[in-house]
Amino acid sequence: MPGASIHLNEPPMFELAFVPRLHASHKGSFGDVAVVGGAHGMAGAPILAARAALFSGAGRVYVASVDHGPAYDNVQPELMFRDAATHNFAGSTVVAGPGMGDSATAIRILAKLLDGESPLVLDADAINLVAASPDLQSRLSARHAPSILTPHPLEAARLLGVTAGVVQGDRLEAAREIAARFDAFVVLKGSGTVIAMPDGEAAINPTGNPGLASAGTGDVLAGLCGSLLAQGWPARDAALAAVWMHGQAADRLVAQGVGPIGLTAGELPAAIRTVLNRM
Ligand code: APR
Ligand code: MG
Repeated sequence: MPGASIHLNEPPMFELAFVPRLHASHKGSFGDVAVVGGAHGMAGAPILAARAALFSGAGRVYVASVDHGPAYDNVQPELMFRDAATHNFAGSTVVAGPGMGDSATAIRILAKLLDGESPLVLDADAINLVAASPDLQSRLSARHAPSILTPHPLEAARLLGVTAGVVQGDRLEAAREIAARFDAFVVLKGSGTVIAMPDGEAAINPTGNPGLASAGTGDVLAGLCGSLLAQGWPARDAALAAVWMHGQAADRLVAQGVGPIGLTAGELPAAIRTVLNRM
């Protein structure tokens, strides 16, 4: 691909990031992920991200709701539910944004997370809140812990203060610009997802298909990014591998006749688990 400095077509490139599972490992060995979101009417978005984190090997996964969220997930009782306003995020990798809304509570929680030391994945409404607030933007730029931003084209456009048409006109440039501006790892989603690093390196992902064009698939990707970070992957490898595996999982499902028509986001986490274990 012209302009992309990393060729993202060989899964063996992730071999070094894999940490072998020792016989004596325990759940504390594989990291904690906390997904922050779930404003009223959007409780499903953080659950999808949390299931992705669970199925991709995170040791413990929390859903921290900004509103009064559900008490548990009937389908995935392994998940633990907390109130985001009072939860202690220390030691967790945080995925913020899925269905987070734009309430004063959401803004306050996001400001606290940006100031904290937890590795962060910012998706969806967390990106919209940052785009709308110079204060949150300076907190993001000032972070020491790694940040991965996963905007779709419209969210990227809001961050840059341009139209989605401008972003789509030069996706590599848009992703690199966001990465440089916020000193963050950027995943600009859509067909041919671009992954851009703060140092200007970039890749274009070859996997994935239009079966992914349905609500919630982005939430799954954000949860997967957070899970790999929590398991100790460097942010660069976590972003590259998450995007590649997410697309590869969708491609496997389509090969089995599960899509592209009617592929649902909830079917992705189990397929991602298979991709990971076979890599
Ligand atoms: N080919 C390959 N990948 C695709 C394609 C395609 N044609 N279409 C979509 N995808 C992938 C994207 O690359 C991304 O990984 O599907 C995912 C879609 O993510 P989002 O655009 O974030 O969609 P969604 O999960 O519905 O977002 C949930 O958050 O971003 C907000 O407004 C959004 O409310 C919505 C919520
Ligand atoms: Mg989204």
